[in-house]
Amino acid sequence: MIGLFDRMARPLLGLMEAENAHRVAIQGLKVLPRGPGPTDDARLSVRVFGLNFPNPVGMAAGFDKHGEVPDALLRLGFGFVEVGTVTPRPQPGNPRPRLFRLPADEGVINRLGFNSEGAQAVLVRLAARAGAGGLVGVNVGANKESQDRIADYVSLIETFAPVASYFTVNISSPNTPGLRDLQQGRLFDELLARVVDARARVSRQAGLTPLLIKIAPDLTLNELDDIVGAARRRRVDGMIVGNTTVARPPGLKDRGTAKEAGGLSGRPLFGLSTRMLAETYVRAEGAFPLVGTGGIDSGSGALAKIRAGASLVQLYSSLVFRGLALVGEIKVELVKELTRNRHAGLPELVGVDAAAMTAESWPR
Ligand SMILES: Cc1cc2nc3c(=O)[nH]c(=O)nc-3n(C[C@H](O)[C@H](O)[C@H](O)COP(=O)(O)O)c2cc1C
Repeated sequence: MIGLFDRMARPLLGLMEAENAHRVAIQGLKVLPRGPGPTDDARLSVRVFGLNFPNPVGMAAGFDKHGEVPDALLRLGFGFVEVGTVTPRPQPGNPRPRLFRLPADEGVINRLGFNSEGAQAVLVRLAARAGAGGLVGVNVGANKESQDRIADYVSLIETFAPVASYFTVNISSPNTPGLRDLQQGRLFDELLARVVDARARVSRQAGLTPLLIKIAPDLTLNELDDIVGAARRRRVDGMIVGNTTVARPPGLKDRGTAKEAGGLSGRPLFGLSTRMLAETYVRAEGAFPLVGTGGIDSGSGALAKIRAGASLVQLYSSLVFRGLALVGEIKVELVKELTRNRHAGLPELVGVDAAAMTAESWPR
């Protein structure tokens, strides 16, 4: 079914303007036949944040921003789906065009700017699927015009606690002016204090929902020291490394499109995001697990992230170029790797390359 959907739809989607193609893909997933998804090899299961993931391959935030198709994505074989970014109030995001493909680089640039249908619309959808099973995280962000951005994160945690498998506090989108300042010093610590407190308050009704922080790959290592230190002190449950980059690696081939403002993702982000993952892993010292995101487009890419320190991985951009069958291919590759080296499971491989990676020259 996935193969058919992919073979028929992908060439057509590739001809369409990028954001229209995304909309069509979402509509297609809405009519995907119901039924059970594939059963995963038991060796792919991962237990982190107190949750049991059937496999470590997740749908990254930004694909299903409004919570329209989490169950279809789970049926396609993702081990978990991250919905959002959701903002408290609906907002349109930036003017179009705001999403661009870089086919020669297998990269994507977006400056969507948190287009969101708002918390209420997404809550209704997630509440309607409550009890359906599967892990669905909610990625939360602040409204552009908000006077108190931290209060936005707090309100979203209160709103979504009953329906979220976990929360991702997204303070790393480059497309909301000033948002990434929340990663800095005292502001970051205040953010953590208030979201951790909100999560504790709602836990009386909803249980203790894991709280993850999603960071930018563009942080300096000094900034990363502070962030990981504060996250450890405030006892967050994990980090996602990371979001899109504002950098433009010198080797990009689609030079014209590369000039578009926004966050770059996909293959050109792999080196930087994997290095930042390893840098985060060595600083976290096992205090919390990490999710590796950025440029994964194969089983070996997923494995490299795991070896750099990721307990789970997420992907988005590569699906534009490789199609949804990639999810199954990555899982097959991971199982092959485990079989080849007689590993009982993926946790044995988490972080084995991290220290060595941090000694390499900085990726360009
Ligand atoms: C079109 C697009 C929209 C995105 N929107 C969000 C978002 O709303 N929230 C977020 O945290 N990350 C968002 N991301 C970032 C992805 O979740 C991911 O961190 C990044 O793209 C790196 O992974 P990839 O190279 O596999 O795409 C978006 C990425 C893309 C390409």
